[in-house]
Amino acid sequence: MPPDLLTATITRWIGFFAMAALIGSLAVDLLILRDDGAPHAERRRLQRLRVASVIALILVSMAEVFLRGRTMTGTGLSGVLSAVPSILGRTHFGHVWVIRFVLLAAALCAACSLRRATRVVTLGAAIGVAFTTAATGHAGDWGDLSLSAAIDWVHVVASSVWVGGLLSLAVAGRSRGAPIWPSPLFETIARRFSRLAGWSLLAVVSSGSYNAWVQVRTPAALWSTTYGRVLCIKVLLVAGIVWLGAASRYTIVARLGRPEPGGLLARLFRMQWAWLFGARETAPSMLPSRLLRYVSREACLGIVVLACSAILADSTPARHAVHLDHHAGSDAMLVNTTELHARGDIPSKRISDPLPGSESSVHHCPRAPSPGTVMRQSGRPVSDDGNLGRCSKENEQS
Ligand code: HEM
Repeated sequence: MPPDLLTATITRWIGFFAMAALIGSLAVDLLILRDDGAPHAERRRLQRLRVASVIALILVSMAEVFLRGRTMTGTGLSGVLSAVPSILGRTHFGHVWVIRFVLLAAALCAACSLRRATRVVTLGAAIGVAFTTAATGHAGDWGDLSLSAAIDWVHVVASSVWVGGLLSLAVAGRSRGAPIWPSPLFETIARRFSRLAGWSLLAVVSSGSYNAWVQVRTPAALWSTTYGRVLCIKVLLVAGIVWLGAASRYTIVARLGRPEPGGLLARLFRMQWAWLFGARETAPSMLPSRLLRYVSREACLGIVVLACSAILADSTPARHAVHLDHHAGSDAMLVNTTELHARGDIPSKRISDPLPGSESSVHHCPRAPSPGTVMRQSGRPVSDDGNLGRCSKENEQS
């Protein structure tokens, strides 16, 4: 992996992680702990997590501007800094990012207070920030107000509630390794979170399946492209989280307080669990710490899933990769932006003029391109805003 791409992927991963921690901590605070008797200490801990997440998101968003500037101008720090006003003022990415910075500033101010109204404002701002992620990702190739952007938005929010919620529960739920909630409160919190995780899972899997269908298109691309292979690894990891989640729900939460026989699924799960690990039951007093151990493991797997998502977001989608393989044998020729505008390959409403000091006026296109996947010399598609790995719908009529 080229160093610039590795840096971009790690930056994006940290951004996804911070977004999950921000949205998940608010979901746990507002929907799980609510205002009924949860001690003040864990609210403070969740608030610290939120403030740290917003600061991380601001830093990561600034780094993403820098990285895009590097991609677009091909120059060092001074060249990129002089291009920043053009990037923010004249590209689609820049316009969306200005809104993101405003929302993050609002979230930072609101996150400093513990009042319920400000927590709701922080959640609203965080959900807006999630939209800027969807609008500048692959799903945004069809436009900011497209179905794919809306579904990707749902995917980002639901997956953040789930993974970030697990993380927040692991952070807030124990002190010096021991669970902090007294028994009846622990039971209520565990049942509420189990329900929220179930709904999040449904939203994540349905929106993720739609994303996969849009970005992959053919089953063969799942094993013949890097994008497809990373997606398969991601789905396997998600299956691991679901299995651990089912273990928490059917072997621990169901036994808290009053025993619950559950439906067919619960009984089948307990049977396979007993077959794998034996029928020995954990003592009721040990259930809370066991649940928090499982929650921490699920959160760790979720963080690895976020890494896979960052790799996907920075890779050429399988729908393009198949197309590029098709053209791999053809020689390439250089064209400049003006020629591409003239040919209609880059719509002038989406792309700015070349940035100061930019090499981006030169593009590398396959010979006789099917009217025009726009290529950098790296051989990967580039969108209107110089975003490697992306191709706007207008540019992608193949
Ligand atoms: C714990 C579960 C999951 C988490 C935390 C998660 C997280 C994410 C995140 C943060 C993105 C980036 C969105 C963007 O850049 O706009 C993403 C994209 C995506 N996810 Fe998931 N996801 C999960 C489950 C799934 C599942 C189950 C599938 C497939 C069935 C899936 C398929 C996809 C696809 C295809 C993309 C599009 C990547 C791109 O921009 O090219 N995800 N996911």
